[in-house]
Amino acid sequence: MIIMGIETSCDDTGISIIEAKGRKSPSFRILANNIASQIEIHQKYGGVYPNMAKREHETNLPIVVSKALKKAKLDPLHPALDALAITYGPGLSPCLWAGLNKAQELTKQWNVPLIPTNHMEGHLLISLFLGSPKRGLGIPKPRLGNILPALALLVSGGHTQLIFVSALGKYKLLGETRDDAAGECFDKTARVLGLPYPGGPAISQQAQLCETNIYKLRLPRPMISTKDYDFSFSGLKTAVLYDWKSRSKKVRESTVYTQEMAKEIQKAIIEVLVQKTLKAAHRYSAKAIILGGGVGANKLLRNTLLKETKKFGMRFLVAPPEFCTDNGAMIAVAGYATWLRSGFKKHKHIEAQPNLSL
Ligand code: KG4
Ligand code: ZN
Repeated sequence: MIIMGIETSCDDTGISIIEAKGRKSPSFRILANNIASQIEIHQKYGGVYPNMAKREHETNLPIVVSKALKKAKLDPLHPALDALAITYGPGLSPCLWAGLNKAQELTKQWNVPLIPTNHMEGHLLISLFLGSPKRGLGIPKPRLGNILPALALLVSGGHTQLIFVSALGKYKLLGETRDDAAGECFDKTARVLGLPYPGGPAISQQAQLCETNIYKLRLPRPMISTKDYDFSFSGLKTAVLYDWKSRSKKVRESTVYTQEMAKEIQKAIIEVLVQKTLKAAHRYSAKAIILGGGVGANKLLRNTLLKETKKFGMRFLVAPPEFCTDNGAMIAVAGYATWLRSGFKKHKHIEAQPNLSL
């Protein structure tokens, strides 16, 4: 089955075309994966403004769709697609609507069925089906029986969730953030330090450059030892802000302070994520840990989870970094899984659902 995935839930316009096969152990081939990023525009404002992002999606969508069709060598007017998968939530309402409106227009124009898809399931499934700790997509192809039950850590700009995956489509939310998401914490603390948006890559880059330990910074590890599987990251942002405010202008603007703070921020966030993920994986006897979402692109998080899972003989599945951040391929993959579960349904009108849960 040839599926086009359309992703516009935040600030990336992602279009991908994939070939999907099989039922019990599905396999995928990516024929095209095109993205128009709005980072440069949102960098000026230090974050994403939904209505501005929506306008950008509307401008970018036709261009990225054409590019993807060309890359996949499909007819631009009558592409031989079997389905179109679209993110209908969770995400920023105006952005979701931009994608939904375009998708509904294209399904009519091309006469193909539309599959409404959950963005978080996309993050989970692209790592489950196409992830391996090494670079490259889908090698080796995992057999579902060797992976499930699994524990998924989904970490993005809007979500931080621990999910027990007992079977394809059977998800149980074990815990989530009570305030800011992990990605949001990276973004907000980066802003305090005067680093660009998005904060995750900027903090991780600064942390890697750090070779000193002059300020002996020690941030809290919020909720690291609580019995539940919830998270809280807003206190971390406050702690960074207090420390930053207590420093002189000269220190605040120094490279050494910025790098040491970036290193400690990254360490604090990752220690909490890893400890809670491992605790849940043991408690639920998971065969594998699946890492998904934009923060999953973080090298230290990937390396730490790889090392820890090896110790306990668990598998570790994570998509390559560029498929952890938002993209159309994850939506096409989740669209295929949705179709496997429930086939094509007739949808008269699909509404955007900004708070959709798994
Ligand atoms: O999944 P995603 O692309 O969009 C949402 O669904 O929110 O995640 C974006 C988030 C941002 O907060 C960004 O700072 C973070 O992922 N991120 C990272 C890295 N790359 C992106 N965080 C830490 N390290 C990274 N390398
Ligand atoms: Zn996302």
